[in-house]
Amino acid sequence: MEEERILDPEKLEANEDNLSLRPTLLKEYIGQEKIKESLEVYIKAALSRHESLDHVLLYGPPGLGKTTLAQIVANELHVNLKVISGPTIERSGDLAAVLSQLEEGDVLFIDEIHRLPRFVEEILYSAMEDYVLDIMIGKDSSAKSIRVDLPPFTLIGATTRYGDISSPLRDRFGVIFHLDYYNIKELNEIIKRTALVYNAKISDEAALELAKRSRGTPRIANRLFRRVRDFAEVKNEGNISLDVTKYALNQLGVDDGGLDLRDHKYLKTLIEIYKGGPVGVEALAASLSEEVSTLEDVYEPYLLQEGYIKRSNRGRMATEKAYKHLNINYMKGLFA
Ligand code: ADE
Repeated sequence: MEEERILDPEKLEANEDNLSLRPTLLKEYIGQEKIKESLEVYIKAALSRHESLDHVLLYGPPGLGKTTLAQIVANELHVNLKVISGPTIERSGDLAAVLSQLEEGDVLFIDEIHRLPRFVEEILYSAMEDYVLDIMIGKDSSAKSIRVDLPPFTLIGATTRYGDISSPLRDRFGVIFHLDYYNIKELNEIIKRTALVYNAKISDEAALELAKRSRGTPRIANRLFRRVRDFAEVKNEGNISLDVTKYALNQLGVDDGGLDLRDHKYLKTLIEIYKGGPVGVEALAASLSEEVSTLEDVYEPYLLQEGYIKRSNRGRMATEKAYKHLNINYMKGLFA
């Protein structure tokens, strides 16, 4: 049976889109300071010139707030936001329909833009560059192309895989931002804000504990918050104390480094089956019954950042920190 992954940053829940949880203004958005500073300037400049904002590409691991940023940009520009996702656009007509409904200055957010089929992506080139839509009508010898004008608009593209964006597409973004994992102080603030939104009581120590175990990811912080709040409701009259938080997180299989059962499985497989590596990502993915892209986009960025694994040109390797974390003797691993 597939165990639930409490720390899956890609998984959205029904109540997770709760709009009051998402900040609506740049000044309410916590973290990503450099991005906020730049966006503030570009938004002000666009507003004062009565022009549309340049196209923006956001890249980085899932759950760090790319959609939230797009909503904020649209809100600050006082325009509509249209949200679509790369994999759901299968035909060029689907994209043409969305583009032709945009109003002047609107923001079109395309999540997972690296997964747009190439022939769909090509429609974007002239739309982004010249605000025109070239549509082919008919087939073979009777085929002809008609050109439709679009209003100026802003495309915000989001991707977890910068390297998978074709260069013609990448070149058409005027602004490219990399979103980074949040630090503990920022996550702590986000959790306190979430507690306020939910009108929940949380102690300072409990908020900090949650922040430490949230993998640098607000989406995970908010999800863990809701689970811990459930435990607090049932076991502690709604008070989110440090004890309840630790208890709940342990029950959920989230350890004190913020790693969950699947991270443990990843590290154990690397150490026990592949003697700590180096091992190619394909072999590792096969052993874990996961897609290579899931390992690369979801598991590994955090394990790399926290120094549990290293990547070399011969493959993945477990570090001494990983052995220690799992209580496995490092020397024994090296010489077994
Ligand atoms: N909720 C989720 N992400 C957030 C962020 N970056 N700032 C404020 N609230 C958030």
